[in-house]
Amino acid sequence: MTDTAQLHDAIEAALAAIDYPAQPEGLYAPIAYTLAAGGKRLRPTLLLLAYSLYRDDWTRALPAAVGLEVYHNHTLLHDDLMDRAQLRRGRPTVHTRWDDNTAVLSGDAMLILAFRHVLRAEATPDVQARALDLLARTAQEICEGQQMDMDFERRDDVTEAEYLEMIRLKTSVLLGCAARMGAQLAGAPDADADALYAFAEQIGLAFQLQDDYLDLYGDPAVFGKRIGGDILQGKKTYLLFAALRGADPEARTALLRLLADGSLPPQEKVAAVRQRYDALRAPERTQEAIARCYQAARQRLQAVSLPATRTEPLRRYADSLLGRKN
Ligand code: IPE
Ligand code: IPE
Ligand code: MG
Ligand code: MG
Ligand code: MG
Repeated sequence: MTDTAQLHDAIEAALAAIDYPAQPEGLYAPIAYTLAAGGKRLRPTLLLLAYSLYRDDWTRALPAAVGLEVYHNHTLLHDDLMDRAQLRRGRPTVHTRWDDNTAVLSGDAMLILAFRHVLRAEATPDVQARALDLLARTAQEICEGQQMDMDFERRDDVTEAEYLEMIRLKTSVLLGCAARMGAQLAGAPDADADALYAFAEQIGLAFQLQDDYLDLYGDPAVFGKRIGGDILQGKKTYLLFAALRGADPEARTALLRLLADGSLPPQEKVAAVRQRYDALRAPERTQEAIARCYQAARQRLQAVSLPATRTEPLRRYADSLLGRKN
């Protein structure tokens, strides 16, 4: 049985051991800075937990796990630039500490490095090709999700279904990819790889709903990102849909008008939106939706052809993400 803490330590050690070329420093220093800043290491942990369902020799898959974490951090460099976010993991973002061009190019280099790390996992050429194809397809989907996220800033008619598809693409597919890649590297049956993908996809939806929640209700010292950033950036988040569900026409108009108001001082606007969200029970409704996603995830896991005792570490790990604060 695999110990999740042990996997986490191995991932940290492997990330710390990445040997970057010394030059050009302007390209590689921001990469080292980003990967040394910590983070939950969720995607590589999921990959190794999925692998460990089938085989104990998970060090074979460790390079792929590292690859997914490098890939995830690539998306963060570009996402922070696109979202004009100044703080991540309690530290200045790369485009803030360096500049926009650095975030673009170091981010690009991380995307390339990610594929090279995945290719280093011990597997037959056929399995390697599947892993690379899976990551490539996932990366394209994430671009689609990120584009939708930006498009939604300029739209006031976004539906909840559109929002859910957007977060599936920008966030869930990478968790699905991690679970599927781990299973495939371990030689799991395709049906199991599919079930694990579906499980991680549901966890991913819950994960993004919690991210939306923490963006407004998180403790800034623990969350490591600016509170209220989504509101100020005009993001469509689950909190908004949760609030609208409880709103009569009058409250709806008032909320939408407030969100569109560009003249208020930032902190005042965030506080005013928060007050309305509270009154409309948006945080409670969001937590209820998160619980439903977890329930759905647990059901997907039951389709895996293994005894429940074997999938227990994966279930426990998913549970540990429920109610996370960062
Ligand atoms: C942040 O991902 C981006 C989202 C998909 C919400 P994480 O919350 O996994 O960030 P780190 O890696 O732990 O910092
Ligand atoms: C993150 O969405 C999605 C990706 C990074 C692909 P967010 O923009 O909500 O993530 P945070 O809140 O900046 O981490
Ligand atoms: Mg962002
Ligand atoms: Mg974003
Ligand atoms: Mg967010």
